[in-house]
Amino acid sequence: MYFRNIKNKIFLAPMEEVNDIVFRILCKKSGAGLTWTPLTNPLTKQRQFLEDKPILQLFGGKELCEFSRRHIKNSPFRTLRKGASGKPAGFPICTNTKGIKEFMKKYDKKVSGWDFNLGCPATTARKHGFGSYLTDLKAIEKILKTMRENTKKFLCVKIRKSSLAFDILKIAEKYCNAICIHPRTRKQGYSGEPDIKFAEKFKAKSKIPVIYSGDVNETNYKELLKKFDAVMVGRKAIGNPNIFAKLTNKKLKQITFQDYLALLRKKKYALPFRQIKFQAMQFTKGKRNSRKIRDKLSKIKTFEELKNYLKIKLQ
Ligand SMILES: Cc1cc2nc3c(=O)[nH]c(=O)nc-3n(C[C@H](O)[C@H](O)[C@H](O)COP(=O)(O)O)c2cc1C
Repeated sequence: MYFRNIKNKIFLAPMEEVNDIVFRILCKKSGAGLTWTPLTNPLTKQRQFLEDKPILQLFGGKELCEFSRRHIKNSPFRTLRKGASGKPAGFPICTNTKGIKEFMKKYDKKVSGWDFNLGCPATTARKHGFGSYLTDLKAIEKILKTMRENTKKFLCVKIRKSSLAFDILKIAEKYCNAICIHPRTRKQGYSGEPDIKFAEKFKAKSKIPVIYSGDVNETNYKELLKKFDAVMVGRKAIGNPNIFAKLTNKKLKQITFQDYLALLRKKKYALPFRQIKFQAMQFTKGKRNSRKIRDKLSKIKTFEELKNYLKIKLQ
């Protein structure tokens, strides 16, 4: 799949916890041109549900080279690399492309394409050196090269605003079909204004299509689509797949949590109950009595209980 062949350039942004398979199918039905999975560890053994033919987003970090921890302990290097505490600060690190080839081989036929996450600001990302904390350009190039070697499909990388953004762009131009920019810094997380001017400068320099992410909504999407090659909708889609029908002028019956449940049951996806409850809470946001509904939902323990309760409360 090439970027120019995607007719509808309004996509569902990758969102951990939110973008389960049922939610993604509903967003696609509502009009999303492409859907993204949440960031996924290529070493996971969990079954991947990919019926919506999504863009599968991987993450990877750095890890100690072939040397084992015991080896490091006994290594002469440890005396050379003391941290502030006086303890060994670590060891030369190299890219972790582990599992990527095998994972991509297993799932390539089932997806529309692939993405690599360089934007995650979470503390776990800091701990393990992935997402926005993966700043070693050689490591990034090694990963994107590996990904390119293992698919002929669409490949992109998702980044944040940072001092490395233009260097990553140069690498992406060698291997990727597009690059996605969320122009908030790691420090900003998800709050504050996205720096659209930065994203525009980025687009002006880029030789590959640029997908914009950051507060895309009903009032700004048309303007953004004039400036960028595509846009992604994130938080505005949570509990509200209908936003895609609105943005794409698709005539469609309002999608509700009942549709989520019906699809879940029909397809027999084995999602954990806490995930179903999470979605119930998102879909009920903004409803009348939503606080009361959410309080009640948090106490519900079984699927039957949930269904019976929502039948009354969700019209
Ligand atoms: C709950 C949540 C989970 C997210 N998970 C991911 C993720 O797994 N991978 C990723 O690249 N971005 C992730 N993001 C960032 C979004 O894809 C998007 O770039 C960001 O939220 C800005 O878009 P918005 O303002 O439309 O929400 C996440 C955002 C939220 C709110």
